[in-house]
Amino acid sequence: MAKAKIAVIGAGLMGHGIAQVFALAGHDVTITDSVAQSLATAKSRIAANLRDLGDDETATSRVTPCADLTDAVRDADYVVEAVSEDLPLKQQLFAAIERCVRADTVLASNTSVIPITSIMQGLQRRQRALGTHWWNPPFLVPLVEVIETQWTSPQVVDWTMRLHEAAGKKPAHVKKDVPGFIGNRLQHALWREAISLVEHGICDAATVDAVIKASFGRRLPVLGPLENADLVGTDLTLAIHNTVLPAIDSRPGPSPYLEKLVADGKLGFKSGEGFRKWSPDEQAALRAKVVAHLKAIRDA
Ligand SMILES: NC(=O)c1ccc[n+]([C@@H]2O[C@H](COP(=O)([O-])OP(=O)(O)OC[C@H]3O[C@@H](n4cnc5c(N)ncnc54)[C@H](O)[C@@H]3O)[C@@H](O)[C@H]2O)c1
Repeated sequence: MAKAKIAVIGAGLMGHGIAQVFALAGHDVTITDSVAQSLATAKSRIAANLRDLGDDETATSRVTPCADLTDAVRDADYVVEAVSEDLPLKQQLFAAIERCVRADTVLASNTSVIPITSIMQGLQRRQRALGTHWWNPPFLVPLVEVIETQWTSPQVVDWTMRLHEAAGKKPAHVKKDVPGFIGNRLQHALWREAISLVEHGICDAATVDAVIKASFGRRLPVLGPLENADLVGTDLTLAIHNTVLPAIDSRPGPSPYLEKLVADGKLGFKSGEGFRKWSPDEQAALRAKVVAHLKAIRDA
């Protein structure tokens, strides 16, 4: 993949990590943020991540912070937006970006859940726009969902897939712009049932997590659900679904149990209690365990 000029808009949790991945892959990266402090610390956060991971710290020199949006995007081949999850903000931003970039610059949004179609509908050249949904932390979780809209050109999808693959990511082509794309639809189908099991007194929250981690969670890194269905047989899968699907949660909205947790201020780590209680030490230990696990898989 030829070296490209990448512009990252938003230097928060996701933006600085995305900039890091592209810089490490050899691309020149500009980064901008509307909050001066966030921009000022972007390079030092990238350098610290690279140091922690044992990656080449000199990649930081390929990242150029720009206080001005126009300076950040003017020469870009590819612009990826990772600002706050706010539709009008993203729409206004892309309108401003489109006024400053070349006609062939590819424009991508890292939105978690907002339809790419809604974000990009006002653009003059909608064929160059798409979604790229990274996972946190961007430098440790390989997946990037590349979301095509009804307007995106096949060449733009193909180039974006190759850009991410060459940067060491695992791009997945999402052919229709559906809410939750692929990963979050799957993840939250599981979370809905996990919450329902607790809500209906079948087990407590710790047991749900323990069951998953000690069973199919062990196999998931090497055996996806559809590989698993083929492995056991589609006939057995059908028999299981005939019995189990009518019994599992299919309510269209969030669980009342979840709504009550939020209403009661039980917000998880933020408040010290959600489905379970979390002391500051337990929170730090769980965060560290996740990062150590992701690093070990990456280095294996
Ligand atoms: N956090 C995650 O796990 C995750 C995962 C995938 C996708 N996302 C999505 O990525 C995007 C960014 O999320 P985050 O977690 O990095 O948020 P964040 O709050 O850490 O960072 C957002 C940054 O955008 C900046 N910003 C706001 N308005 C701006 C503007 N007009 N111009 C330039 N910068 C601006 C903010 O100052 C902030 O630094 C969101 O759309 C989010 O839904 C987040």
